[in-house]
Amino acid sequence: MTTLLTGATGLSGTLFLKRLAEHCPGTNIDCLVRSTSDRTVLDRLDLKLTYYVGDSSIPETWDEILTQKKFDTIIHLVQLRQVPTILKCLKKAEQTPRLIIIGTTGIYSKYNQYSAGYQEAEKELAQYPGSFCLLRPTMIYGSPKDQNLHKLIKFCDRYGFFPVFGSGNNLLQPIHADDIAQALLSIWNRPHLRGAYDISGGTIVTLYELLQLVEKLINKPVRKISFPLNIGIWLATILEGILGEKSLVRREQILRLQEDKAYPHALAQKDLDFFPRTLEVGLQEEVALMRTQGII
Ligand SMILES: NC(=O)c1ccc[n+]([C@@H]2O[C@H](COP(=O)([O-])OP(=O)(O)OC[C@H]3O[C@@H](n4cnc5c(N)ncnc54)[C@H](OP(=O)(O)O)[C@@H]3O)[C@@H](O)[C@H]2O)c1
Repeated sequence: MTTLLTGATGLSGTLFLKRLAEHCPGTNIDCLVRSTSDRTVLDRLDLKLTYYVGDSSIPETWDEILTQKKFDTIIHLVQLRQVPTILKCLKKAEQTPRLIIIGTTGIYSKYNQYSAGYQEAEKELAQYPGSFCLLRPTMIYGSPKDQNLHKLIKFCDRYGFFPVFGSGNNLLQPIHADDIAQALLSIWNRPHLRGAYDISGGTIVTLYELLQLVEKLINKPVRKISFPLNIGIWLATILEGILGEKSLVRREQILRLQEDKAYPHALAQKDLDFFPRTLEVGLQEEVALMRTQGII
């Protein structure tokens, strides 16, 4: 089975390849990476990796790869919004490999600006003539590469407080990247599977409960300082205006604090043997990793 993987050097991609190396050592996998991607960790794995250097967001990269080799499976982890580009290139090349795509439960957001691009991509994917599996994870955590809980833990550890905009009672169900890696491996190993799966973590918490858990794990008090939601929106808008991409918080993130982000994963449990770790176990691992690396 020939497989092309995008996003191999990312959080979920690296863990997927680690799991693959443990379960099927010596497997051949082709990876589309950027010229700037750091492949050091991947090169140490017991896998036969072949690299294509390019940019998964542009058609020229796909045209070039698809003329060089025909794949049975393409696993695309980089970004759901790039799917329409991939589909166009596959159509042009007259190829219909099995597609395994990572989307996001962000598609369910009522904030149109946030979800519209995802909805458009999913709509196009649904028309794909070949078979496909779509995994929709919730917020991902699990290593210094994660942009979510890693930042939150670091902030709490350094400053001993965390701002809570709005009620702080909305629900979260973060998923550990290694649980995504296991779900990817299950799908890759089960070629008959098709369709979409929401995948979420083993625990549902409010932001307040999450901060209490972080407090317990870092063993330091974390004051929860409440602000009205409008102040958060105002601050994030200003920060984004000044710092752009470098801003610690985006306006949309604050707006989305009002939404519950817990999604059941019963279908994935049934079809993929998906039993994600609890948040306490996952965060214990993340905090231990941060300590080992001297981050906290
Ligand atoms: N973060 C979340 O909370 C969250 C929630 C739901 C869904 N998702 C989705 O889940 C997927 C996996 O997320 P992740 O956190 O595991 O990924 P990640 O750590 O952010 O890694 C992204 C990967 O994509 C590669 N990449 C980015 N742009 C590229 C391009 N133009 N061409 C080729 N490669 C490119 C990166 O390569 P380099 O090494 O060169 O940077 C890296 O390997 C993503 O599709 C993300 O949108 C994320």
